[in-house]
Amino acid sequence: MNSRPYPALEALSISPASGALGAVIEGLDVGNLDSEEIAAVRMLLDEYSVLVFRDQNLTPEDQIAFTANFGAVEQHPLYRSAILDGYPEILVLEHKNHQWVNGRNDVWHSDVTFSEKPPLGSVLYCRAITEGLGDTLFCSMRQAYDTLSPGMQQMLGQLTAEHSSARMVVRNNSEGYNVPIDDVPPPVNHPVVRTNLANGKKNLFVNPIYTICFSGMTEKESDPLLNYLYEQATRPDNIYRHRWRVNDVVMFDNRCAMHYVVLDYGPEMHRLMHRTTAAGDKPV
Ligand code: SIN
Repeated sequence: MNSRPYPALEALSISPASGALGAVIEGLDVGNLDSEEIAAVRMLLDEYSVLVFRDQNLTPEDQIAFTANFGAVEQHPLYRSAILDGYPEILVLEHKNHQWVNGRNDVWHSDVTFSEKPPLGSVLYCRAITEGLGDTLFCSMRQAYDTLSPGMQQMLGQLTAEHSSARMVVRNNSEGYNVPIDDVPPPVNHPVVRTNLANGKKNLFVNPIYTICFSGMTEKESDPLLNYLYEQATRPDNIYRHRWRVNDVVMFDNRCAMHYVVLDYGPEMHRLMHRTTAAGDKPV
């Protein structure tokens, strides 16, 4: 890594969290960053896709300000019911007293890819957890792409796929963990292989909940290849499993990682995350 443009990097301890993606960053108070540190975090996100900052002490304002360094802070377009009192930018993801607020999220997905401009990424701030339960898995859609054959990469590079919230809305409404959603925005099409314009790296950009089919093909025709790509993406060697502690901040790059929350906790466990989301660009 060329440290000259980012002198702030030299003061940090950066430990890769798995062979595929993720890094634990020590030496930063994310509620109090200077401009060099912000540039360093941007570069680290492009490099590692998931950044873990332990023992953070953030006010809601701090979390919103940290997120705003990466893009305009935006609300979830469909989940508008549970937000932190007075802070519409903070989505509350909670399991308490046998009930989920804003979903269980035990499905591999990238967030809001049914939108023309899906988020760049999100910041999760852990407020309550029983350590060892309710971990979040992240998988690298970059390494999933890199390990495909050149022929498959070339073919996928010519395809776009249709993304819609329709399946998520059915799941949400049938499982009743959020207020019913009656609005399914029209589907959008995104490239199956997208490129990070900052570093030129390519990754798969499909996910099981929002990608419906390859554009111009049926679901039946698309499913075998999409399922193969999901199998490659979610192989154990392509995953970082984050074991939460209260006061962890985890920032993930929604452009090139999928995530999944492990549903191994009982009805009594309190799990609470405050999530903020930075707006992204149209995938290319
Ligand atoms: C999500 O953003 O899908 C949920 C992540 C989590 O609760 O760990």
